[in-house]
Amino acid sequence: MIVQAEELYRFYRSGDEETRALRGVSLDVAAGEVVLVSGPSGSGKSTLLACLGGLDDPDGGIVRVDGHRISHRPEAERAALRARLVGVLFQSGNLIEHLTVAANVDLAQRLAGRRDRRLRDELLDGLGLAGRARAWPSELSGGEAARAGLAVALANRPALLLADEPTGELDQHTEGPVLRLIRRQAGERTAVVIASHSPAVRRLADRILELKDGRAT
Ligand SMILES: Nc1ncnc2c1ncn2[C@@H]1O[C@H](COP(=O)(O)OP(=O)(O)O)[C@@H](O)[C@H]1O
Ligand SMILES: [Mg+2]
Repeated sequence: MIVQAEELYRFYRSGDEETRALRGVSLDVAAGEVVLVSGPSGSGKSTLLACLGGLDDPDGGIVRVDGHRISHRPEAERAALRARLVGVLFQSGNLIEHLTVAANVDLAQRLAGRRDRRLRDELLDGLGLAGRARAWPSELSGGEAARAGLAVALANRPALLLADEPTGELDQHTEGPVLRLIRRQAGERTAVVIASHSPAVRRLADRILELKDGRAT
């Protein structure tokens, strides 16, 4: 299993208010598998993905990615594991605006302590961005920006690809190609977890985890 998440709990407190974002969610994801995390707004999808990728730390439970425990570690250790093992794709904001597309991928590699120009060019090529390597993020179309974000997420051949509403800002014509590219990544033995409301993602998924009020239904 690439992802082994056992009994995750995540609470947010502010003053007397307590939000129980995750209440005992477990999830295993194998290499090559695409899992959709579905559920109404506020049901805990983003919190779950953040905990799976070590972006956030659960209050209870344990997360292993590719055999490495990523939960309950100091942030610096989590960041190092994350850079090596996890690719993350958000709806937007995946690219640093003052770096070109290629430099964004280079930076993601540098954060993982590597430099692999060949892999970078392969990724850009495979994502149909060979001609856009020197473009600035502001010059990209919505579909190109999503694919460039995917190139950054895949910069280190992650074991786990997390995508939080990755096609939320795309129209149907640009969504299809992006989803096919994500699917193809699963074919490369990556575990893929996508939070989304899109029917197209639902059709693509091998398995669906429905969340409601922080619990699997
Ligand atoms: N940083 C935070 N501080 C306080 N509450 C949060 C924070 N992040 C999420 N929440 C709350 O946790 C619950 C789950 O949020 P989230 O995981 O973003 O749900 P979803 O992605 O399904 O919309 C919501 O009630 C949300 O308001
Ligand atoms: Mg969300």
